[in-house]
Amino acid sequence: MRHDMELPTSEKRPVRSSDRSWEEIRKEFPILQQTIREHPLAYLDNAASSQMPQDVIDRLVWYHSGEHSNVHRGVHTLSQRATNAYDQAREKVASFINAPSSKECIFTSGTTEGINLVAHGYGRPFVDEGDTIVVSALEHHSNIVPWQILCEEKGANLEVIPMNDAGELILDDFDEMLDSSVKLVCVNHVSNALGTINPIKEITDRAHKKEIPVLVDGAQAVPHMPVNVQALGADFYVFSGHKMCGPTGIGVLWAKRRWLEEMQPFQGGGDMILSVTWEGTTYNDIPFKFEAGTPSIAAAIGLGAAADYLDHIGMSRIAEREAELLTRTTERLKALGGIRCFGTASEKAGVVSFDIDGVHPHDIGTILDNEGVAIRAGHHCAQPVMDRLGIPATARASLAFYNNEADIDRLVAGLYSVKEIFGV
Ligand code: ALA
Repeated sequence: MRHDMELPTSEKRPVRSSDRSWEEIRKEFPILQQTIREHPLAYLDNAASSQMPQDVIDRLVWYHSGEHSNVHRGVHTLSQRATNAYDQAREKVASFINAPSSKECIFTSGTTEGINLVAHGYGRPFVDEGDTIVVSALEHHSNIVPWQILCEEKGANLEVIPMNDAGELILDDFDEMLDSSVKLVCVNHVSNALGTINPIKEITDRAHKKEIPVLVDGAQAVPHMPVNVQALGADFYVFSGHKMCGPTGIGVLWAKRRWLEEMQPFQGGGDMILSVTWEGTTYNDIPFKFEAGTPSIAAAIGLGAAADYLDHIGMSRIAEREAELLTRTTERLKALGGIRCFGTASEKAGVVSFDIDGVHPHDIGTILDNEGVAIRAGHHCAQPVMDRLGIPATARASLAFYNNEADIDRLVAGLYSVKEIFGV
């Protein structure tokens, strides 16, 4: 590869039709073309991590082959190339979630770091003894544990919005919960364990009536539906690159400027300062105030390419396709018999959590893997959800737009084998 040639950015590729078929789109994912244990791979673990299309892989290769240098420091050509690409990536993710300004988008290592950043940056100045943080019963551990740590340090309280048997939040008493002690409401947009899509706009409207900000964990939403942070009314919105066809080690915290201006930095170091003397430090402007040290430059650029890729297909089209696949999966599992599905919310994304009486979910996962079908088994980092349902774990098939009907047939055939092996 010649490094003085024009960059092969996605814009310079031959223009592809955004309504190309799903089978054509599937072929753009090299990892899906392989066999596992002599079976074609049926990858149904997208809620844990999605796969990268060739466009994103090419963008990473190009960065490492032709642009790599540190950002915001050098006057030399490579540093300028890396800086331009990094800055463009921030513009792309901002536009992808309709953020009012890319300056409000902080690159993080992922959703977990984004939430921890808010727990420190907002929690330290704004939460005191006797205050309350409200979370929901559907949260992933990453939207529980940082708040438990904060509450313990500050002598604050954690309160939980309950859920019903279908995995829907019960908001009947939400207004009463929101008393003057509440400093933040934290809720996921889509549950990773059950697929429930939460009514974020209703939650932000009700919290804002009491002037309480809302943090939304969007890790399982951004890859699967159009997300408009302004229309949702969120104050903080976090998501991860690797769940949206991008690389690992990168994510985004978007927050309203007013909070970012008032929040304390999370980490100290290079790039987050304007000046440092022995008397003290003046912090840099946003977003740099929250990006200490050398960032994950390549991963951020890869995430920008992933946002371009998804945007080109269209998030509404992706949501429709995944809804079709979800209906098919749910119906086929029900028809198989002996499968108990968890999470039957009326608004659901492409997650099917289930168990089979008498079979441990890990055994389901292992037998399916023998047939080339990848699912996740366990508590999905959502133990309180499992406790509420009275189960230790589930098997979980989670869909992406590049899955097809054959993947679902293979899941069903694999589950048929599980039932045969265990005689259930
Ligand atoms: N949070 C990821 C999942 O649900 C890892 O699988």
